[in-house]
Amino acid sequence: MAESKNPTLKLPGINAAIIMDGNGRWAKKNALSVTSGHERGVEVVKKIVESAAKAKLESLSLYAFSTENWSRPKKEILGIKKLIIKAIDSQLSELIQQEVRLNFFGDYSSFGKTVIDAIFKAERSTAFEDPRLKLNIALGYGGRADIIQATKLIAQEIKLDKLSLEEVSDETIFKFLKAPISDLDLLIRTGGDQRISNFLLYHLAYSEIQFTDTLWPDFTEEEFLQCLEAFFNTERRFGKRTI
Ligand code: IPE
Ligand code: IPE
Ligand code: MG
Repeated sequence: MAESKNPTLKLPGINAAIIMDGNGRWAKKNALSVTSGHERGVEVVKKIVESAAKAKLESLSLYAFSTENWSRPKKEILGIKKLIIKAIDSQLSELIQQEVRLNFFGDYSSFGKTVIDAIFKAERSTAFEDPRLKLNIALGYGGRADIIQATKLIAQEIKLDKLSLEEVSDETIFKFLKAPISDLDLLIRTGGDQRISNFLLYHLAYSEIQFTDTLWPDFTEEEFLQCLEAFFNTERRFGKRTI
């Protein structure tokens, strides 16, 4: 990719997300364990979060673990569990200092009490009212599971006469989905595959989508800025006639 011409680009109000894929292949390529690949991936997260805050994004939502990832080997899941605890432990004070609000979403209860406690602590201590950046981590998340639980909650509200059928709108659906964003502006997927893998299905309706072959542990701040710049230079038509 060409060098970014605009490293000072600011994108206030923009909601971006990343499917951070390629840790396993990076580990294999470097003759390391899968867990070392994930470990390297966490280091990249740190840099990209700083960069997203500098670019003044409204939010950055990172796909860390999907509902489908529960089918991975126990050893890998245990490694990821330890990494979540370690990452929160080592990065929390810096996130507080940077005024980044952390929010985990998905069903991560199967990771157990230590992870749940660490997450709650991190969310409590970063609950800034006006954060510099909202950092959302999808953990045990699946777009379909999210839509199913939201549908059930909406049906329940209607049954209890707390909501009328006519009132059900995009806004209502976003309110009941667990993902703490509404329309997603930009989705980046690393690792070379061009698919959504059950991420933010409802939110992706009009997202700009960028795929890069770079494996997540090799992803750099510079490439991230190039993605933001390409997004900035894209005309978003939303179905309208503009010529
Ligand atoms: C993404 O990297 C991280 C998780 C899904 C937890 P992968 O582990 O899927 O990496 P590849 O796709 O095998 O290279
Ligand atoms: C998507 O990556 C999920 C995360 C990055 C957490 P996967 O590696 O699980 O997705 P597939 O298997 O390529 O669809
Ligand atoms: Mg993968």
